[in-house]
Amino acid sequence: MQNSPFTTTDAGAPVASDAHSQSVGADGPIVLHDHYLVEKLAQFNRERVPERVVHAKGGGAFGTFTTTEDVSRYTRAAIFQPGVATEMLARFSTVAGELGSPDTWRDPRGFSLKFYTTEGNYDLVGNNTPVFFIRDGIKFPDFIRSQKRLPGSHLRDNDMQWDFWTLSPESAHQVTWLMGDRGIPASWRHMDGFGSHTYQWINAAGERFWVKYHFRTDQGIKNLSNDEASQLAGSDSDVHIRDLYEAIAGGDFPSWTLSVQVMPYADAEEYRFNPFDLTKVWPHADYPLLKVGTMQLNRNPENYFAQIEQATFAPSNFVPGIATSPDKMLLARIFSYADAQRYRVGTNHAQLPVNAPHAAPVHSYSKDGAARYTFDAPDVPVYAPSSRGGAHAEPARAADSPGWESDGALVRSAATLHPEDDDFGQAGTLYREVFDDAARARFLETITGHVGGVRAEDIRERAIQYWTHVDAGLGAALRANLAGTAPIETGTPATASLPVA
Ligand code: HEM
Repeated sequence: MQNSPFTTTDAGAPVASDAHSQSVGADGPIVLHDHYLVEKLAQFNRERVPERVVHAKGGGAFGTFTTTEDVSRYTRAAIFQPGVATEMLARFSTVAGELGSPDTWRDPRGFSLKFYTTEGNYDLVGNNTPVFFIRDGIKFPDFIRSQKRLPGSHLRDNDMQWDFWTLSPESAHQVTWLMGDRGIPASWRHMDGFGSHTYQWINAAGERFWVKYHFRTDQGIKNLSNDEASQLAGSDSDVHIRDLYEAIAGGDFPSWTLSVQVMPYADAEEYRFNPFDLTKVWPHADYPLLKVGTMQLNRNPENYFAQIEQATFAPSNFVPGIATSPDKMLLARIFSYADAQRYRVGTNHAQLPVNAPHAAPVHSYSKDGAARYTFDAPDVPVYAPSSRGGAHAEPARAADSPGWESDGALVRSAATLHPEDDDFGQAGTLYREVFDDAARARFLETITGHVGGVRAEDIRERAIQYWTHVDAGLGAALRANLAGTAPIETGTPATASLPVA
């Protein structure tokens, strides 16, 4: 007590009691003009911001990204010049679960990175999977709702999930990932991260390249079995937050090696499938991994709410030398995140210490708004153009992000211009050529359990056909496994719930 400070109000005035409201007599009614009581209760009522609409449950840490190789022939980005070390923040998450949900539910894991570069903040908001369930952002709200909860019972529901997936066959590759061993990582330290989309890099000469990012864990891949995951969901539901926090606190700093696949700009048109299709990986035989550097996490947040909950990662945060590609999903995300964050954290979220650039000045024309904190000197103009010394844009900067050639009528369709623009091919390759016998057996067991939780017969049948398209033998084995387990009639009230371990 002796060394601790005296309590004050938010305005800094001394407070007489931490325990007693003002009342009329010791047992009498409390009074409205006890403004300290009012401040305490009112502030408490406003302690939460809305949870993220997806990826609500997560944790993170700060660290350093160091470029150890010379990739300057592909990008002019300051962060990726040889020897450059950049402060960064990482946040990991599950997708469908809410803020308090278990870390070990089967789900993709978010892999969000914010690099505080000398040219502004660069955010790479990826997952632990190199592909995704859909190809067009217009489906994203439907997809997510099918993975979350029924409107009436508020239960998670296998029927919704398989209904959506089987009616969206482009999901097959990602669902194969999800139901495989990597669908439940043992910890965030033991999983890889991917940028997933194809991005554009631009070098100092203005040449353009298409790139995919791969962060390989230096801790090695480790996954949980369905049983281990179910048990942990009950006994230690925050196990992944704990694992990361305790490793860093104990000086065991996790690291990842970043490599990229680089496709020459002109290859995109003639490649055997659309290289901007987020449901596909680029085979390493076509585009090998090229090492870039190392990311190490070495500093825990000091305050979870201020530094992790209020952190805002946005795929629109690019820096010179890194830009978007024609991937429709990425283009939709470029709108969506900053919009969500203006709502979730507030219009001035980018000024919070965790979100503001740490190594670059800000001279933007965003002014005022709720909770505005930073401002310029009074003689700095608030408009452009001005002849009074306000910031002015630099036309030469157009070369940092030259875009791509595009022309055509406005349509709502997806062209399949390449011979291998299909839905099931790479899912089959993953199942047959990447999984070994034991992994295939576990995979069959997992999808049997998961599809077995579907009540409607038509959706079950579609699910069997879906896996038959991935691999005929797999579909037949699933049909045989499910033969003894009669689905409940459609219309039966939902009782089955996820997680789907
Ligand atoms: C979070 C939208 C696809 C990875 C979010 C958030 C929104 C969103 C609104 C919450 C942002 C916030 O409140 O701060 C979308 C839309 C998508 C899409 C509209 C499709 C068009 C993807 C894909 C990936 C991904 C393809 C991975 C490759 C993430 C991650 C987070 C997130 C990791 C958590 C960010 C954090 O840690 O704060 N998404 N998303 N999303 N999304 Fe997406």
